[in-house]
Amino acid sequence: MMDPDTKKDAGIFDESLLCLAPMAGYSDAPFRLLCAELGADFTVAEMASAEGLVHGGEKTADMLRFIEGEGPVGIQLFGANPVAIAAAASIAGKSHPAFIDLNFGCPVRKVVRKNGGSAIMRDLGLMERIAGAAVDAVSIPVTAKIRSGWSEKEINFLETGRVLERAGVSAVTLHPRTRSQGFTGTARWSHIKLLREKLSIPVIANGDVRTVADYERIVSVTGKGIVMIGRGALGNPWIFGEIKNAMEGRPWSKRPVDDIVRMMERHLRMEVERKGERVAVMEMRKQYRWYLRGIDDIKRYRSGLSQVESLTGTISIFEAIREECRERCKRPA
Ligand SMILES: Cc1cc2nc3c(=O)[nH]c(=O)nc-3n(C[C@H](O)[C@H](O)[C@H](O)COP(=O)(O)O)c2cc1C
Repeated sequence: MMDPDTKKDAGIFDESLLCLAPMAGYSDAPFRLLCAELGADFTVAEMASAEGLVHGGEKTADMLRFIEGEGPVGIQLFGANPVAIAAAASIAGKSHPAFIDLNFGCPVRKVVRKNGGSAIMRDLGLMERIAGAAVDAVSIPVTAKIRSGWSEKEINFLETGRVLERAGVSAVTLHPRTRSQGFTGTARWSHIKLLREKLSIPVIANGDVRTVADYERIVSVTGKGIVMIGRGALGNPWIFGEIKNAMEGRPWSKRPVDDIVRMMERHLRMEVERKGERVAVMEMRKQYRWYLRGIDDIKRYRSGLSQVESLTGTISIFEAIREECRERCKRPA
């Protein structure tokens, strides 16, 4: 258990309003930079395997490289072995993240089968050892991300939150769905309110915030505190600024398609610089669907973008969209 006198500096969690969720395959350095520039107070990197880091996996280590200007970033680790988690937290700490986040919410079979992610919500003794080991291993704050429980019959977020607080964790993020739900149904924001009432550490609210109106609703249900946005930021890194503008009573206008295309191009070019053309072009294909969601006029370019194989090929499709939209494209709703 942590000595209260040595409580780590967790100011970032008192001062922030909005953050980007960790999303495997999406929350990499270029996307985090875009979100930070557009108003995310901090971001959390896609989950990295503790064992992978400890055993020197190159791809995992690559996840620890930040881009200048990204702002505060949390590195998220998953794993079920307290010794590996402690070692991985020390390694991750060398990249100077703002904090280390522990993944106790991942529902994916590959992770759960090895007793990682949300499976640890069924073994709170192990969770306490993992969290305690991470807290002892680093001098920066450690946070944890949880779900409401494993299943409808095993809802235990309140007990889990208390265990994490006792272990010295500085903040807890709750995505209020069960592991069995995966991403179906709706996030039960009332669970966040209950957890906020029970814990003295900050509870970060997460789940189903895609618009300014969603943000207003989640705050009205859960009370004040940080809101974490995941899918709502995909193809829409502007969401952070939109919410902040709305909160400050400043008007914000919808983005012209030209701005969206420019953003896709910038995102793509940053990915190419970081991962090389082949990997970046392939990985970016899935992002375009998010960016172009709701813009019916350019439907016919979607299949081209989902099959494109080179940077120049992608840029020429972008040019065609721009050309077509200059006159007549509707903005997304
Ligand atoms: C594609 C994708 C990848 C995700 N990867 C992670 C991850 O690496 N770590 C994690 O804790 N949660 C992960 N999540 C869950 C999100 O962080 C978040 O809790 C969830 O999407 C609910 O928030 P949202 O409704 O704002 O998207 C992922 C979600 C998606 C859609």
